Amino acid sequence: MELSRWKIAVVTLLSAAGMLLPARADEHEHTYVDKEEVVLWMNTVGPYHNRQETYKYFSLPFCVGNKKTISHYHETLGEALQGVELEFSGLDIKFKDEVLQATYCEIELDKAKRDAFVYAIKNHYWYQMYIDDLPIWGIVGEADENGEDHYLWTYKKLEIGYHGNRIVDVNLTSEGKVKLVPNTRIAMSYSVKWKKSDVKFEDRFDKYLDPSFFQHRIHWFSIFNSFMMVIFLVGLVSMILMRTLRKDYARYSKEEEMDDMDRDLGDEYGWKQVHGDVFRPSSQPLIFSSLIGSGCQIFSVSLIVIIVAMIEDLYTERGSMLSTAIFVYAATSPVNGYFGGSLYAKQGGRRWIKQMFIGAFLIPAMVCGTAFFINFIAIYYHASRAIPFGTMPNFPCRVNAVPRPIPEKKWFMEPAVIVCLGGILPFGSIFIEMYFIFTSFWAYKIYYVYGFMMLVLVILCIVTVCVTIVCTYFLLNAEDYRWQWTSFLSAASTAVYVYMYSFYYYFFKTKMYGLFQTSFYFGYMAVFSTALGIMCGAVGYMGTSAFVRKIYTNVKID
Ligand SMILES: *[C@@H]1O[C@H](CO)[C@@H](O)[C@H](O)[C@H]1NC(C)=O
Repeated sequence: MELSRWKIAVVTLLSAAGMLLPARADEHEHTYVDKEEVVLWMNTVGPYHNRQETYKYFSLPFCVGNKKTISHYHETLGEALQGVELEFSGLDIKFKDEVLQATYCEIELDKAKRDAFVYAIKNHYWYQMYIDDLPIWGIVGEADENGEDHYLWTYKKLEIGYHGNRIVDVNLTSEGKVKLVPNTRIAMSYSVKWKKSDVKFEDRFDKYLDPSFFQHRIHWFSIFNSFMMVIFLVGLVSMILMRTLRKDYARYSKEEEMDDMDRDLGDEYGWKQVHGDVFRPSSQPLIFSSLIGSGCQIFSVSLIVIIVAMIEDLYTERGSMLSTAIFVYAATSPVNGYFGGSLYAKQGGRRWIKQMFIGAFLIPAMVCGTAFFINFIAIYYHASRAIPFGTMPNFPCRVNAVPRPIPEKKWFMEPAVIVCLGGILPFGSIFIEMYFIFTSFWAYKIYYVYGFMMLVLVILCIVTVCVTIVCTYFLLNAEDYRWQWTSFLSAASTAVYVYMYSFYYYFFKTKMYGLFQTSFYFGYMAVFSTALGIMCGAVGYMGTSAFVRKIYTNVKID
């Protein structure tokens, strides 16, 4: 069995370019006349405890119904564009046409087929089907208590609700438990019942949403909590900085008035001392600027996708979230090129082609095979656009020729310690949201409260910027000018906490097991955390860099 998900990703990537065109023009109308064909599509099968591990439905030795031809062929094209691989079930279903229990095919159960089914049943496999874009889940089979005998559910009882000429509701009941014995024939059967329903077509997805889960008091409370934290933090940061900075300025200008003799004896200390070094290029400017560029891009992708998801109910269309994200990612590569490239140029980098490639390949390389194709688009964008490097180095302070030695300081002022502590507050503001996002990703819940997600993103950005500014202020005050990496990493360390949280989630909230599922889970989570870290890092750095410019613009330097 091969993972169908990767294939899905590739198809989506290939079609991402085509998304520019109005690809939905031939999308299914969702209206039927009586006795019109209704197609039951088989989608995937996979373990219940890991929603992301899916295989093609027919990778299990299920049999196909007799009906071979379908008239809705355009639909498969739309499906391909959206990156879902559906296969026709072969079941004969017509609009408002009752079918009493009828056998549609038989499985000749040899040893190999039996073993395949037993494996699936042992791992709690579920399958997914679609009728008129409505998802249907069913369980493959069941084992008895002592786990020796395995049974397959052979009878699919479909109850379809209609409202006027549209399908608004589907229920599946699995019946007909048959014991799996090698060298027997197993008859698969189905029945279809049509019921008038009061559900409106627009509301037909509501039953898949889970307001009592997503709009639970805890969710509201956590948002409120984080919001309060933001207000508190912003107030605190601005107060501290205003007061200390004003004092610092006052002290510095008093020292200005002293004559040279006095000044030599005077106790000049603090962040002003490093004015000749703060704008020294960071170490590893190539990687640094690529990270910042990528982070800015991730941030804009998240922002745009969340806004689109808030406006349009993306969850009602298969794969549209993924396609949207990929399309937006491709379209925002100039953001990456602009921020990464201009930062690199400002830091005096000369190998800008190399920077461009590293910047463009950083996340894609991380997302590995999936992103291989995105890069052609990304590089195309980079190559065909003149990146306005126009605003070349223009720092408030000149950089000294010789780096200043960094004085000894207390252990908690070491960049490594600041970095570790920096992530705690941002993580604290998002970890409840992480629970909801993880649950909708790994379990069968559809995430739809994108307004919440938007708020959390805004809160995360504000908290991150505040925290990194404070960290940087302390660092500079200790006359350590290595603020660029420190600010980036102290914000990015949020992701380390998120990744640690994912361990907790794995052991206490999921029932995944085995090497495959474990590596699957932690692999995905690593990609997610890294992307989050790069995003937070970039946001933190951008905020801090504005702050640093601001404070050094106002000091008088002799
Ligand atoms: C499906 O099941 C739900 C809940 O049991 C019920 O309210 C609804 O009427 C059913 N729909 C159909 C079409 O049978």
